[in-house]
Amino acid sequence: MKKIAILFSGNGTNLDNLLKNLHHKKFNGFKIEVVATICNVPSAKGIEKSRSFGIKPIIINHKEYKNREEFDVQLVDAIKKSGAELTILAGFMRFLTPIFTKNIKAINLHPSILPLFKGGHAIEESYESDMKIGGVTVHYVNEELDGGSIIAQQCFQKDSKMSFETYEKKIHELEYKLLPEIVIEVLSKKFL
Ligand code: GAR
Repeated sequence: MKKIAILFSGNGTNLDNLLKNLHHKKFNGFKIEVVATICNVPSAKGIEKSRSFGIKPIIINHKEYKNREEFDVQLVDAIKKSGAELTILAGFMRFLTPIFTKNIKAINLHPSILPLFKGGHAIEESYESDMKIGGVTVHYVNEELDGGSIIAQQCFQKDSKMSFETYEKKIHELEYKLLPEIVIEVLSKKFL
């Protein structure tokens, strides 16, 4: 049994996709169990998605903490208590301090071809850019925002006539395919 935790802040469509494709499923000789879902925004839509899989999300509202470090102490404590060996940031929109990054093995999903378009507006910024491709990245989490070592990337051709909605949909399609695959590969110790 491989235990994972999923962190999210908003719609939770990637959380939903991970739960659908990985939770209680067997791969490469091991079963995956999502032992914790953690959210920092009490009104996030993803909360209901977690509940629909029978997993009560842990809400750690960052606004209730004096600083990032105190928030991260709670986050690390919840993850450690869950027993997760790998944590997945699936739309988790917080800067993390060394309190988190030195204690938790985590991977992050980002909707651009890193190191381009770091931060919270990657889809809009990459759509507006001159680049002829769009794409997504999964990387290890370190202290630098969207800066840890890259595990995998996928991209698609960006057509100049492509609407923002089509572009965003393509980004999410890649995310839904890539993230579960990489979680399985990391748990299988293909990347260390
Ligand atoms: C996803 O597109 C993810 O790549 C992005 O937030 C979205 C969450 O959507 N993450 C970042 O921008 C991290 N810097 P979801 O809540 O529907 O899964």
